[in-house]
Amino acid sequence: MRRVAWGITGGGQYLAESVRAMREVAAQHRVCTFVSKAGEEVLRMYGLLEELREISGGGYLEEIFLESESGRSFPMTGRLMIGRYDLLLIAPATSNTVAKIACGISDTIVTNAAALAEKAQVPVLVLPTDVREAVTRAPYAVNREMCNACEICPPQTACPQGAISGDGVRSIDLMRCDGCGTCLPLCSSSAIDAVRMNVRRRGIDQRNIEMLRERGYTILESPEEIPEAVAKTATGRHPPSAGA
Ligand SMILES: Cc1cc2nc3c(=O)[nH]c(=O)nc-3n(C[C@H](O)[C@H](O)[C@H](O)COP(=O)(O)O)c2cc1C
Repeated sequence: MRRVAWGITGGGQYLAESVRAMREVAAQHRVCTFVSKAGEEVLRMYGLLEELREISGGGYLEEIFLESESGRSFPMTGRLMIGRYDLLLIAPATSNTVAKIACGISDTIVTNAAALAEKAQVPVLVLPTDVREAVTRAPYAVNREMCNACEICPPQTACPQGAISGDGVRSIDLMRCDGCGTCLPLCSSSAIDAVRMNVRRRGIDQRNIEMLRERGYTILESPEEIPEAVAKTATGRHPPSAGA
């Protein structure tokens, strides 16, 4: 059994697949989650925050630590320095997080965890987004050209989060939307959809990933690799000690 620290950042690509992989990993290993602020927002937009809470038992080393509740110094990432985890896995890892780690910046809960893991020689596995050209599903949005501006908008009335606003053409407030999809079948003009986006590769992302690889990080190519990669990773080098 591995004790896994799992960083989740605000990447829509591979997010659902990463949560699925987490469910598989959590069946055999202990998984403690560290979620960046953007990660929390994007998890909610895709309707995955509750699923994450369901997967995570919440017991010792199976907690969810949200950056939004972790102050500026992220005290719980300190566990990586005292041998509490066998590995840190960051999946998905946004371009932003990869770039920060490449430059040694540690000002989010996930980049901070990476910095401490590296200092403590705890193995770090990273699944970067946007490495391959791919189609990613965006959160739900109203297609303004298709919206009929109905006087009574059933999706608006039914949205449990009150996330749909306007009295003409409607719009969805993604800071409120929790991706439940209640609205989808209720729109008579099918104006609500999750747009597919084409993501093109950027050279800068490739270079940042190479910098991580050179520093000994394991770079994963796809979420399907996660369960085996976790099982294969040698355990951390720190003996357990008293504390957090
Ligand atoms: C719905 C949605 C999906 C996103 N998907 C990605 C993505 O796949 N890759 C990426 O690099 N950034 C993506 N972003 C942008 C990041 O969330 C943003 O750069 C954020 O600042 C990253 O912060 P973090 O790295 O601390 O999580 C997405 C944003 C939104 C709103």
